[in-house]
Amino acid sequence: MQPAPLTILGYTVTALCFMYGVQLLRSPARASLGNRIAAVGMLLVIGITIGLIGGNANWAYIVPPIVIGAALGAVSARAVRMTAMPQMVALFNGMGGGSAALIAAQDFRTAVANGTAHPDITWAIMLSCFIGSISFAGSIIAFAKLQELMSGRPLTYPLQTPINAAILLAIVAIGVFLIVASQSLPLFAVFVVLSLLLGVLFVVPIGGADMPVIISLLNSFTGLAAAMTGFVLSNDVLIVSGALVGASGTILTIAMSRAMNRSLFNVLFGAFGATVATPGGGGGEEGGSVHPTSVEDVAPLLAFAQLVIFVPGYGMAVARAQHDVKELADELERRGVQVEYAIHPVAGRMPGHMNVLLAAANVPYPQLKEMDAVNPDFPRADVAMVIGANDVVNPAARNEAGSPIYGMPILNADEAKTVVVLKRSMATGFAGVDNPLFYKPNTLMLFGDARQSIASLTAEVKHQ
Ligand code: TAP
Repeated sequence: MQPAPLTILGYTVTALCFMYGVQLLRSPARASLGNRIAAVGMLLVIGITIGLIGGNANWAYIVPPIVIGAALGAVSARAVRMTAMPQMVALFNGMGGGSAALIAAQDFRTAVANGTAHPDITWAIMLSCFIGSISFAGSIIAFAKLQELMSGRPLTYPLQTPINAAILLAIVAIGVFLIVASQSLPLFAVFVVLSLLLGVLFVVPIGGADMPVIISLLNSFTGLAAAMTGFVLSNDVLIVSGALVGASGTILTIAMSRAMNRSLFNVLFGAFGATVATPGGGGGEEGGSVHPTSVEDVAPLLAFAQLVIFVPGYGMAVARAQHDVKELADELERRGVQVEYAIHPVAGRMPGHMNVLLAAANVPYPQLKEMDAVNPDFPRADVAMVIGANDVVNPAARNEAGSPIYGMPILNADEAKTVVVLKRSMATGFAGVDNPLFYKPNTLMLFGDARQSIASLTAEVKHQ
């Protein structure tokens, strides 16, 4: 049945809100406005849906889930630590995929009961259940790995790929059979269980640290599942928003893989992190030794510099040092030092991780400079302060053809006159590879928790 003109108008406004909201996410300064606009779109479409159900509504089934869901969402979004954000996104994404699959499954049952299960619609039901189940089960595994409820190590076993291929073939065969020749509900249950199993087996061989890429990929699956459910329900806004999520999730997945200089195939099947690389200590490209330093020695370098570039990484998030970094930057600026922040696209553990943290600490957006914009500034920087970053400043990515991260674009912090690295030990970063930057003659290592080191530096700079 064709929706009423007012409904079509509402759906169009909703779709525009979603599209404009996503568009605004491109800039850190406008991202939260984008989020709000998309949320208004979501509110509008919930209102339209409730309006459409109208008098037939069974409110006892509608109101409690909305209230409980909204409360859970609001509380967890406020309570979650930034470092735990990827697992929260995984959980929410899994719920989206699971919902799409459940709605489609319910539609199949109804269609079978009413004798209206026709290939015209059952193809979309099968696809929605298949993709939604994979997204649900895979996201739960991603959550469990990131939350350390299970080992983050890639779990590999013999005949992994043939087993997965066999399950996939069985799912396709049953799905096609259900579309063209059968309406058996028990067989449909087998179809769903196999899809869930494939979701689990798809994610377990992938290392915990690659989970942000997988979550983004599963997010695009959820979008596709939602779009398929849109076809099942003949709901245009669900088709548009599902396609939008599917497309943006795919683009983000590819962008993250590219920024790590890894193919998506390598992320999915490379079992990255299965072997533990030997931590450094060998001396790196310079064959030299490390130069430990102290707060007292670094403070004058900062206080009398002309340009200081902060290079934040995962360690800054772990230390929750962003507010202290801003305080140090304020102190330096009061003294006439120019301050910039160098943002690598995959610094941290999720897209935009550093932007989000520094924006929350009120760092002015123009100071957040993307990799291509900031790299030419390093040679004239007096100090590059590497705050809990490691892989994203590893010159091996530029110079060592045999390195696992060779070819990954990096921030050229090593080109600064002096590099000060804030970390707790000589431990490696996510990629598990040694970092020759730490052994360069112009690099000073300030060992300790980044937050404490920065706070001590601020106090010391004030005395200069
Ligand atoms: P990493 O290379 O992971 O290095 C982080 C460093 O922070 C570690 O070497 C650690 O050294 C230090 N650290 C940890 N806690 C600290 C603390 N409390 N105080 C001071 N230092 C601390 O981080 P990165 O440079 O940001 O690179 C990100 C990596 O993650 C890249 O390899 C990237 O490919 C990968 N990755 C990113 C994403 C996204 S989307 N961002 C997704 C998947 C994978 P110590 O233990 O010695 O302190």
